[in-house]
Amino acid sequence: MRYARRDAVLREMGLAPVWRLRAGGEDGAAEAIDVMPESAPVAAGPDRGNAQASLPAPPLPTEPVPEMRSARAAIPVRDLIPRPSGAASPAAASERRDDGDPARAGRIARMDWDELENDIRACGACRLCEKRRQAVPGVGDRRAEWMFVGEGPGSEEDQRGEPFVGAAGKLLDAMLAAIGLKRGENVYIANAVKCRPPHNRTPQADEIATCHPYLARQIELVRPRVLIALGRPAALALLDAEISIGASRGRVFHRGDTPVVVTYHPAYLLRNQADKAKAWEDLCFARRLMREFAERA
Ligand code: URA
Repeated sequence: MRYARRDAVLREMGLAPVWRLRAGGEDGAAEAIDVMPESAPVAAGPDRGNAQASLPAPPLPTEPVPEMRSARAAIPVRDLIPRPSGAASPAAASERRDDGDPARAGRIARMDWDELENDIRACGACRLCEKRRQAVPGVGDRRAEWMFVGEGPGSEEDQRGEPFVGAAGKLLDAMLAAIGLKRGENVYIANAVKCRPPHNRTPQADEIATCHPYLARQIELVRPRVLIALGRPAALALLDAEISIGASRGRVFHRGDTPVVVTYHPAYLLRNQADKAKAWEDLCFARRLMREFAERA
């Protein structure tokens, strides 16, 4: 009974009966889990997971997913930096990354929400504007403590003008629900690039850099307590560094004062079902960071 709601959520995420929290694991955050991956078919699609086609389930791992490393359960709280207070400096956004047009970056860094969204919609700064139906600025609570950053719009997002509304978005919603969050409620969702890359290809580094002033301004306006990078392109956009997700899990990066947690992109998880358990660990890890911070604030 106690776990009924969580089980329902995990089932929605395609995980039940994959995960069972151990006794005392109601918090979920630093709990070891027993994993018995299920063999439900996975929705698969192109890079950003918008296609609805089904693929056969991937082979099941023979070993259970290992317990969360104890190091992960012991992140020193000094690594948690409080949410910046007061007005964010417009200059800071453009300092980190020069998209080759500092004047443009400086202009974007001073925009309010309306100006920013209008500018994104009218943007012609890189080749991605040529094939898009519409640009996709971002969605959610503009004062959110949690900000999730994906890669770029897929076909459905391009059509509807909202991030993560296709198959990957459904999984993202389930991932949010699994840690007690909901799109639009204390959650803001944006992408590294605001226009759909043709054929859902991965955005190129120069496209991410050109779009970066927009993401930087969104982050400055939202001032989240934690940033979650969904996949490598998002990590590149947030951290200005090429990282491996597998090697970076369980670590706290920082973008200025804001902690950044990296995890797998939902579209990747649709194709690699066994890694959903790791993504849940990562989200629980981020949630624990938030709780530890809140307890000490
Ligand atoms: N994948 C992304 O990275 N972003 C979206 O908005 C949709 C799918």
